Amino acid sequence: MNYKVAVIKGDGIGPEIVTEAQKVLDKAGEKFGFSLDYKEVLMGGASIDVHGIPLTDEAIADCKASDAVLMGSIGGNTSTSPWYKLEPSKRPEAGLLALRKALNLFANLRPAYLYEELKGACPLKEEITEGGFDMMIMRELTGGLYFGERKTIEEDGVRKAYDSLTYDENEIRRIAKRGFDIAMKRNKKVTSVDKANVLDSSRLWRKVVEEVAKDYPEVSYEHMLVDNCAMQLVRDPKQFDVILTENMFGDILSDEASMVTGSIGMLSSASLNETKFGLYEPSHGSAPDIAGQNIANPIATILSAAMMLRFSFDLDEAADAIEAAVKKVLEDGYRTVDIMSDNMTKVGTKEMGDLICERL
Ligand code: IPM
Ligand code: MG
Repeated sequence: MNYKVAVIKGDGIGPEIVTEAQKVLDKAGEKFGFSLDYKEVLMGGASIDVHGIPLTDEAIADCKASDAVLMGSIGGNTSTSPWYKLEPSKRPEAGLLALRKALNLFANLRPAYLYEELKGACPLKEEITEGGFDMMIMRELTGGLYFGERKTIEEDGVRKAYDSLTYDENEIRRIAKRGFDIAMKRNKKVTSVDKANVLDSSRLWRKVVEEVAKDYPEVSYEHMLVDNCAMQLVRDPKQFDVILTENMFGDILSDEASMVTGSIGMLSSASLNETKFGLYEPSHGSAPDIAGQNIANPIATILSAAMMLRFSFDLDEAADAIEAAVKKVLEDGYRTVDIMSDNMTKVGTKEMGDLICERL
């Protein structure tokens, strides 16, 4: 089989880590009998530098013409990069949001998993993480505050800004279904996170989640307020299986969840629409401060590529093999600097990619 993959290398460490992921994908293709045709697409700062805007219609068309999108990371240093002198709608992040919307990528899956080998990097006390934890954040990605009407005005000499948080029941229902579907393949527990003690949008969220839950009698579910959830994530992360939440809460909680694993450089993500199509990218940012030094950890992107094989192409065996190769590299004691600990062998971005290929 041959698949078309749009590749957005992006900014900062993006190009280095995506190159390693492509290397691993090609190796997996040789072994498991598939091939990938890559089409490079510009987005974010890289697109601003060439076209003056972070996302062109041509870039959207190239992504739509592909079977999936593999992405590195976008954006630069917000206080020093010239990209952030542009008006907000022309900055790198606006490109990413527009692409999510254009491709209707409403379901964002962000796993947070404690690797046995990397337990030392976890900032929580051992008694809290004993036995590990493994959760999946299902974040709504194309609605809510991110896409609501916003404006800044001046009224009687006073500046005033609005951002509106809107969800309709259809948007809530489709993401809730995704959350329950994924729970069925995991430990059958959904924690739906909202702020229903204050927000109308959250009260509707809760009602619709309850309706959807009726179709999944095997899944146990609970509602949790977002402030409590932020606390529970550090108090007892083991309690979570699937966290289902809206866009803004999911943005914040997924950073927190990844940090408690101690290894944000390891965490992948998938953004999916109603079909098999998806955009796959690491959960971390573009780390402009370490770009081009061959020290970034490519594993999150490599694991995102494995998610692409699994979710978009149904190549489960190849995806399993990539995940196993990553585990093996860790067992064999190789570490990039972000996950380095005593007695381990420090390697760079390229070496990490090679070591994973060797173990495939
Ligand atoms: C993320 C990022 C983006 C978001 C930014 C870059 C717009 O933080 O993917 O979590 O807020 O969704
Ligand atoms: Mg974020």
